[in-house]
Amino acid sequence: MTILVTGATGNVGGKVLARLHAAGHSVRALTRDPARAELPAGVEVVGADMGLPDTLPDALDGVRKVFLMSLGHNKRTHDANLVAVARKTGVEHIVQLSTLGVAEVEEENDTPLGLWHRQAEKALTESGLAWTILRPNGFMTHALGWARAARGDGVVRSPVADLPEALVDPQDIAEVAVRALTEPGHEGRVYALTGPEALTARQQVAVLGAAIGRELRFEQISIEEHRAVMAGLYGEATADGVVAALRKALESGDDFRGRLFPDVRNVLGRRARSFQDWAEAHVADFA
Ligand SMILES: NC(=O)c1ccc[n+]([C@@H]2O[C@H](COP(=O)([O-])OP(=O)(O)OC[C@H]3O[C@@H](n4cnc5c(N)ncnc54)[C@H](OP(=O)(O)O)[C@@H]3O)[C@@H](O)[C@H]2O)c1
Repeated sequence: MTILVTGATGNVGGKVLARLHAAGHSVRALTRDPARAELPAGVEVVGADMGLPDTLPDALDGVRKVFLMSLGHNKRTHDANLVAVARKTGVEHIVQLSTLGVAEVEEENDTPLGLWHRQAEKALTESGLAWTILRPNGFMTHALGWARAARGDGVVRSPVADLPEALVDPQDIAEVAVRALTEPGHEGRVYALTGPEALTARQQVAVLGAAIGRELRFEQISIEEHRAVMAGLYGEATADGVVAALRKALESGDDFRGRLFPDVRNVLGRRARSFQDWAEAHVADFA
């Protein structure tokens, strides 16, 4: 049984792929550019673009299960493209990466980012295929963006200073995804994935500084400055979506990002990794 992993060269998909491959499952990695993809030896690689549906039938040929992710404003079309082709090629079960907030925010109050995920979930849940939906909170790996500051003047700049967030380690997301792809009993389930505690960005910076043995300082920047950085990394539409979600979070008194959910523990049988665990495991990334 072949499992197709989308986002296989990326953060969560890469970890899903590595775990499935190490456990001896037959995996196929989807990437737009097989020549540039650096994937574990022995993994089957297929070239396809989720924005180009004609490239997907070959990628899905013989596939029974899929780990499905896509990015930003492309989420709704790219996930829908893959689901539409998967229905015709014999896929049985798709494990989809979505986002926390889909259940916590009312649809009429949702931001573009939330709506893109909502539409992507709907494309899957209405497809007739078996599904599992993973709704993670913000990723701990965002802190990798602080590495340059940690190596330089030690000043971490972010627009979000005092918003508690129960960030999740992408390794935990990947571990839950692998369970859902390889064990029975996860069909029709939605998992809200958070870390074991809610920390503000100021607190995260303090935890990271202690882990890497360097004094780090936090400096709050404006949302406009942050938007410019995001637009440079992900493009204008996605930057607008991220910033709208951020504004809403900052304005909201009871934001869902600080809530803790038990699903990592329920699925994995252990507590979720903490930000301190993450920081200690990533000291080399800040050296
Ligand atoms: N970041 C957060 O805090 C957060 C919070 C909640 C939910 N999420 C969810 O997680 C997602 C991000 O996951 P991530 O960090 O693992 O992403 P990532 O590492 O940034 O993903 C990059 C991957 O996307 C693939 N890709 C991009 N465009 C593609 C296309 N047109 N066709 C096929 N593949 C394409 C790339 O493949 P190639 O370059 O090899 O083609 C690469 O493997 C978000 O979109 C959101 O749905 C994120």
